[in-house]
Amino acid sequence: MILNAFSVLTASQNGNGLWRHPEDERHRFNDLDWWVAYARRIEDAGFTALMFADSFGTGDVSDALDRAQLEEGAYFPATDPFVYVPALAGATSRLSFIATASTTFENPYALARRIGSLDHLARGRFGWNIVTSFVPAMGRAYGTPLPPHTERYARADEFLRACYVLWEGSWEDGAATPGSDRLVDPDRVHDVSHEGDFFRLSGRFTVSPSPQRTPVLVQAGHSSQGTDFAARHAEVVLVTGTKEEARTYIAEVRRLAAEHGRDPSALRFLIPAVVVTGADDADAARRVAEYRRLWSRRASAAVMALFTGYDLTAEADDGTFSYAQTDRHQSAARTLASAGDDGRSRKEAYERATAFPGSHIFISGGPETVADELEAWTAIGVDGVNLMDLVSPADMHRFIEHVVPELDRRGLVERPQGARTLREHLFGRPRLSPDHPGAGLRPARHGADA
Ligand SMILES: Cc1cc2nc3c(=O)[nH]c(=O)nc-3n(C[C@H](O)[C@H](O)[C@H](O)COP(=O)(O)O)c2cc1C
Repeated sequence: MILNAFSVLTASQNGNGLWRHPEDERHRFNDLDWWVAYARRIEDAGFTALMFADSFGTGDVSDALDRAQLEEGAYFPATDPFVYVPALAGATSRLSFIATASTTFENPYALARRIGSLDHLARGRFGWNIVTSFVPAMGRAYGTPLPPHTERYARADEFLRACYVLWEGSWEDGAATPGSDRLVDPDRVHDVSHEGDFFRLSGRFTVSPSPQRTPVLVQAGHSSQGTDFAARHAEVVLVTGTKEEARTYIAEVRRLAAEHGRDPSALRFLIPAVVVTGADDADAARRVAEYRRLWSRRASAAVMALFTGYDLTAEADDGTFSYAQTDRHQSAARTLASAGDDGRSRKEAYERATAFPGSHIFISGGPETVADELEAWTAIGVDGVNLMDLVSPADMHRFIEHVVPELDRRGLVERPQGARTLREHLFGRPRLSPDHPGAGLRPARHGADA
């Protein structure tokens, strides 16, 4: 089982209102020393990666909800994780880092260059969480309105192809020859180009091949376009929902991956999960009771608005709440609908949707209980977990203290061995698999899987 930590450089990721807990330190999210200590702690415990999500802005659904979002520090303010990763990579040796960047708002050449540089700096310990963004405020911030959902995915597909041309297609292996009579063999660095509906670029890529060339590609998307995108491009896929939904989703991604000519068994699936644990079930239950008392429905409603565009705080009317297609985060909206909220009164929908512990996969209990539940997830084909703290870093420390030894006793933790690349840890190879669409862009003289 792969253990990752899943964070945001913000005060309140999922712990709506729990920043009031005396042990919560996440208000120090801009403090590099805090993150270095966090990263080293999870590295020592055998975690594979620290993944940073990133989506920023206010929900823009109502003034009251925006005010609640700021007062509760819920995803606002949010600092740029790409800036923190280099320092954290320098402070660790086995732990990898996965950072989020949006194909809707970035420029492919600039991002490919930044990621290529990061992969050098981190010695191949880097992954990219590819997102298409769903927050309209980002469109306002960048001066280009958030495109509709379908267009966002068409653009993402093209963005990836443009990046592969740069990472895989420009340089042959061995073209950089330090120590010989020249530093670069010009005949082996190709002038590449991409021309599509959204992006145009050409030139020699200015970053020499990094240990992985293409970073490990991570994605989460449950809409039909998101699922197809995962099957085409992703190597690591984040899965949400119930076990039954996850099982169906995994089978669908694997089926589509095979249709796209990829080895369907080569993808790995992770669940994002909140775990509240302790020395035993009673200790964990006490903790959960504390969290329940501090939980803020107001913060929860603000986050819900940010993710789905729904205003669940609107005056209760006689009408019922109905899941309607959203142009924002479709999986979050679907979770609401599948929780049975469709057709309820708005007040009931509010009560359910803003209740502790939120809509994430939630596991609580002592070490055996948590380990049993994580094992049950692996039994349906999940390879590991992206752990989120509600009270940070206390929840992570508790997991490390209580659950990791139990998982070890069962021989379940897949620890990164030595200072290798993230792709080697996950797939036993430093470069993209030959059946991946990016690998098809390698120049002829470049080895099949150098
Ligand atoms: C575990 C997880 C992490 C995510 N992280 C981010 C993120 O950091 N930034 C972002 O804009 N979207 C993030 N998303 C949203 C996805 O990129 C995607 O938009 C969402 O799952 C909805 O899927 P869809 O676009 O196929 O409807 C995340 C989703 C999940 C499940």
